[in-house]
Amino acid sequence: AGPCDIYASGGTPCVAAHSTTRALYSSYTGALYQVKRGSDSTTTNIAPLSAGGVANAATQDSFCSGTTCLITIIYDQSGRGNHLTQAPPGGFQGPEANGYDNLASATGAPVTLNGQKAYGVFVSPGTGYRNNNANGIATGDAAEGMYSILDGTHYNSGCCFDYGNAETSSKDTGNGHMEAIYFGTSTAWGSGSGNGPWLMADLENGLFSGVSSGYNSGDPSITSRFFTAVVKGGPNLWALRGGNAASGSLSTYYSGIRPTASGYNPMSKEGAIILGIGGDNSVSAQGTWYEGVMTSGYPSDATENSVQANIVAAKYATTSLTSGTVLTAGTSISLRATTSSSNTRYLAHTGTAVNTQVVTSSSATTLKQQASWTVRTGLGNSACFSFESVDTPGSYIRHSDFTLYVNANDNSKQFKEDATFCPQSGISGQGSSIRSWNYPTRYIRHYSNAGYIASNGGVHTWDSATLFNDDVSWVISSSFA
Ligand code: AHR
Ligand code: AHR
Repeated sequence: AGPCDIYASGGTPCVAAHSTTRALYSSYTGALYQVKRGSDSTTTNIAPLSAGGVANAATQDSFCSGTTCLITIIYDQSGRGNHLTQAPPGGFQGPEANGYDNLASATGAPVTLNGQKAYGVFVSPGTGYRNNNANGIATGDAAEGMYSILDGTHYNSGCCFDYGNAETSSKDTGNGHMEAIYFGTSTAWGSGSGNGPWLMADLENGLFSGVSSGYNSGDPSITSRFFTAVVKGGPNLWALRGGNAASGSLSTYYSGIRPTASGYNPMSKEGAIILGIGGDNSVSAQGTWYEGVMTSGYPSDATENSVQANIVAAKYATTSLTSGTVLTAGTSISLRATTSSSNTRYLAHTGTAVNTQVVTSSSATTLKQQASWTVRTGLGNSACFSFESVDTPGSYIRHSDFTLYVNANDNSKQFKEDATFCPQSGISGQGSSIRSWNYPTRYIRHYSNAGYIASNGGVHTWDSATLFNDDVSWVISSSFA
């Protein structure tokens, strides 16, 4: 049985069932998600390998070969048509054209389930999915349950990395108008023990870690790589539950009456569905999401415990984030541009600015050093890499506002993540393309001889689709100096 078969037997059927990694009903054979590729803007659907099975990642890999792909639709497997698509502007605007949110890269969150490759949804700040016209999701004070499987190591303190019930207007319509899973380190409304990240319930104008606004000691910091997050709520009753999605059982962090703060009892749920954003389209949070459902009715703990056993049996595990030319920490490299107009230029820096410069074996040592980078284990994720300047030890290539700089490592979480890159086989077919770890739709690109992290089409000049594949493909060799 799948998670939604288990919820149905418990009398609390799924009214939304979303996953890019697997079917959530044992008989489901339909599409899990849709991807759109950059080369010709065509789309294809990704289905399970077999009924109830893991996503057919090979379909995506061949469709997206030699280009980039975005996740455009996450289909609802419940039959209610509650699909998630690119979130529109609301109380806050997203970064794409007309205030829409960004779509997620189709390749930012690879995993395996029982050894079979699949892709999750890597939410960078700015990314969001939504359905404001959903069918059958709880409204008012009606009871519902929900769970999500998340990456417990990918989070930030922005508002709000959520999955669940939100406003149909994409605007903040007041306390109690949401009921969603939140995961991260925001302390703007609530917190739990330790430094986080925490599972909290986003009930609108409040992330709740327990019955009180603010701190509740029963809500633990999460340390597992794969995390099962559970939120449920009904008339004057709600609960927060969680556990390691790769082993063991769920614990109850809170179960009891609604918060006494005004507006949360009774609730005023509206029944839209969000992923990766707050109810008012707040877009500054990050996280990785693999699957989740919403139910009709308040699931029993026993039902959720069976769902957790199903999740553990799915055997989520990590897999490589890199491919192509193998990099070795401690060695020094050069990166040569491959675009025909620039193929004698190398990724270099002048002061803090990252650029490309023509370098040859007879160039001055200063220039050679400016174009030489020491490979380091990724400061923000040890499965990827950081590039330390050979002439300025302690300074690394990092992006800020999507522009590349060489800056001193200040040891902040932001710096480390901005300085982490995951090389893959070159998108043009030549060399390597170097993906930003925290913005995996974006790759190191030269544009007018300056360095950026660029997406294949987008709102910045450097996101131009023209020459994108060539501009993001670099030949990696031993360094000049
Ligand atoms: O409740 C926290 C956040 O507050 C909601 O997600 C958002 O709508 C509002 O800004
Ligand atoms: O470059 C994109 C973002 O811009 C970085 O993550 C952050 O440091 C800056 O605000």
